[in-house]
Amino acid sequence: MSDLEVSPRGPLRGEVEVPGDKSVSHRSLLMNALAHGDARVRGLLRGEDVMSSMHAVQALGVTVEDDGVEVIVRGKGALREPANVIDCGNSGTTIRLLAGILAAEPFFTVLTGDASLRSRPMKRVAGPLREMGARIDGRDGGDRAPIAIRGGDLATKPFDLAVASAQVKTALLLAGRSQGIAVREPERSRDHTERMLVRMGADLKLDGEGWWRLAPTPRLDALDVDVPRDLSSAAFWLVAGAIVPGSEIRIPSVGINPTRSGVIDALRLMGADLTVTPVDAAGAEPIADLVIRHSTLRGARLDGELALRALDELPVLAIAAAFAEGETVIADAKELRVKESDRIARMVVGLRALGVNAEERPDGMVIQGGGAHGPASIDATGDHRIAMAFAIAGCVAPGGVSIAHAESIKTSYPTFLADLERLR
Ligand code: S3P
Repeated sequence: MSDLEVSPRGPLRGEVEVPGDKSVSHRSLLMNALAHGDARVRGLLRGEDVMSSMHAVQALGVTVEDDGVEVIVRGKGALREPANVIDCGNSGTTIRLLAGILAAEPFFTVLTGDASLRSRPMKRVAGPLREMGARIDGRDGGDRAPIAIRGGDLATKPFDLAVASAQVKTALLLAGRSQGIAVREPERSRDHTERMLVRMGADLKLDGEGWWRLAPTPRLDALDVDVPRDLSSAAFWLVAGAIVPGSEIRIPSVGINPTRSGVIDALRLMGADLTVTPVDAAGAEPIADLVIRHSTLRGARLDGELALRALDELPVLAIAAAFAEGETVIADAKELRVKESDRIARMVVGLRALGVNAEERPDGMVIQGGGAHGPASIDATGDHRIAMAFAIAGCVAPGGVSIAHAESIKTSYPTFLADLERLR
């Protein structure tokens, strides 16, 4: 699947069951590995990123059984020193959450990953963990993987973070759980960890000043999880349904956690015909059935907290913008530059190849709508969300889109191409 060709072939119609939520899947494995007891996880995403987390917890001495339907994590409330380095593959969530977990463990670990992961910043998590007393080193003055961690007894302190990052917040909450810890972010990032910690028996509260305050938590109870379907994967079909004439797509049982649901608000702002029907859910996460129908979209300003709540969906929203009427401005999203690739640069290069007028800004991009003007060749540079975003563009761009280095789609959505074929 290194080169992928997608050409227009009429409307997309029918139902698509997208895979389990990636963020919740990682946490179901990593957090239950710390707990006491057996946790049953249903609907786990079986993408490469989550498999990196599964192999990591196994390397740390936790038994994980997978019968293909249900995954059982047999937590013993303890981890052991791994015999070898742990390869986190392409997964930022795996390496950053593990860094927090291992900072509190009295042994030695080395975490590494693929070329993309080894180029991404780790100081944002290593810095605060060092302040708590963990010994962490790495390339580039300690900022890049491989990172070596020798953890142990940490001294807790409050952290007022400069960047809103769920990965950093989670790493600190998990590192500081035994002693208790307080963490505040400049804006609210996704809160899956907080929801799970509370259900695992932790005393964790958000105070009036925006501080997450976790009381000393020497023990976590195993938590059974029904993983909701991933809104970040559903986002590709929401945009496809909105921009391909004649389309109507139903996507059942998708997680709509308000800290993640910016793509729904953004598409509505752009005039999409999108129905969201909440479903009764007993788990920690709210769930809904989604139906999208084609309509004419209009440009919009996607910034502030909306941009943060749609961060991983901004690449495919940029495709929606290209096929809308008028101008779209994406701002306050400079974090896009340090994802699996520089997603601002990659999207602008790809949109221009499609003949779309698009311009880079330090913290986003400006896109003139009106559609694509001819076939294009795109290099996804191994970034799954860039590859899938341009595959959606290929469903409507005259002459189609050819995408190089698209194999990384497997990291988050292994059945993407099969679902695309079925909907067409
Ligand atoms: C994630 C957090 C986000 C997101 C990433 C998954 C998580 O990154 O982009 O895909 O599961 O915690 P941040 O750390 O920038 O919030």
